[in-house]
Amino acid sequence: MKTVESIAKSLNGKKIILRLDLNVPLNKQKITDTNRIDKVIPTLQFLINNKAKILILSHIGRPKGKVIKELSMKPICEYLENKLNQSIYLVKTDINNFREKDLFDNKKASILMLENLRFYSEEEKNNEEFAKILASFGDLYVNDAFSCSHRRHASIFSITKYLPSYAGIQLMAEITALRKITKDITRPITCIIGGSKISTKINVIKNLIYRFDNLIFVGGMANNILKNKNFQIGKSIFEQNCDHIVEDIFELSKKENCRIIYPIDVSVSKKIDGKGNVKKISEVQEDDLILDIGPDTVNMLCKTIEESRTVLWNGPAGYFENENFKKGSLEIARKIVEKNKKNEIYSVAGGGDTVAALNSFDLTKHFSFVSTAGGAFLEFLEGKELPGINALE
Ligand code: 3PG
Repeated sequence: MKTVESIAKSLNGKKIILRLDLNVPLNKQKITDTNRIDKVIPTLQFLINNKAKILILSHIGRPKGKVIKELSMKPICEYLENKLNQSIYLVKTDINNFREKDLFDNKKASILMLENLRFYSEEEKNNEEFAKILASFGDLYVNDAFSCSHRRHASIFSITKYLPSYAGIQLMAEITALRKITKDITRPITCIIGGSKISTKINVIKNLIYRFDNLIFVGGMANNILKNKNFQIGKSIFEQNCDHIVEDIFELSKKENCRIIYPIDVSVSKKIDGKGNVKKISEVQEDDLILDIGPDTVNMLCKTIEESRTVLWNGPAGYFENENFKKGSLEIARKIVEKNKKNEIYSVAGGGDTVAALNSFDLTKHFSFVSTAGGAFLEFLEGKELPGINALE
């Protein structure tokens, strides 16, 4: 893949079409999590330093081809203006009716941003004419939106046919990190999987289990294992009809020589907002809710992490949003950070809840890489080809 950094010297005065993923959560047009925007600041700064003109493209939400005021790019544009201390012109005109030859003409700003791409139904349909219009605004195209690269959309896929196309800084960082946990692995490697739906992770497990040394199940995911092993899980969340998936995992793990680890004790409560009570897994009662892993499990996991050289973490260990049940996730994070600080481990975390947990512990910056991609992260780990990445190759 050609990277934008490799052409730094020829960017002066060039018009760059920069696809970003600024799809951040909004509440009444206020940004509630700025992570994804903050991550692309180095790319923008790099382009600014190299005197490029920038046209930012992004989508927010799923407006399905309709203009929805609440999903305007305006708050993101304002946030970026403050962060970069530069004015950014938000282009609100329908680009299909655009008459100007040069979008940058007569605009005081050297950074422009188009309104939400998904206000146009052509975007998700990967419409060629729409891709051509987008391409006509610039000299070069840069994809720095790894988290959208699993979408075969006009601004991700077809646009690359009409402009010289390059990988952005953040996209390259993401791919390098993901390769270190899927291909160029320093072993032993441990994968910690949590979250509530085992069926959403089975393809990742199937694709990578032959490379993993340890596979740790925590959170709701572990409840499915415990239930399958005939332990009482009370009123805890689990996914229905997944016994065959659990059995597949154990069979594969034997074949591929991967150790499966799941909780030996847990913290339970009668209510989600209650206090924790530690129990061995054989002591859980019918009216208990499992809301975290217990201290013996934490010790067992920390020992496994201690022996690992690479770790991939996707899914918290418990209901960390309640102070009483954050300990499991916090201790896992602390152990990884301790090893990271000594340069003894390569650590990657991904998934919305895991990132939220790490942010709430203020430990994100101490991981080797934290992915803000959702679907694209999982599809990459499943071994699927991502159209946006293929188009750059
Ligand atoms: C994401 O949030 O994962 C990306 O922005 C892609 O969004 P989508 O799932 O709506 O295509």
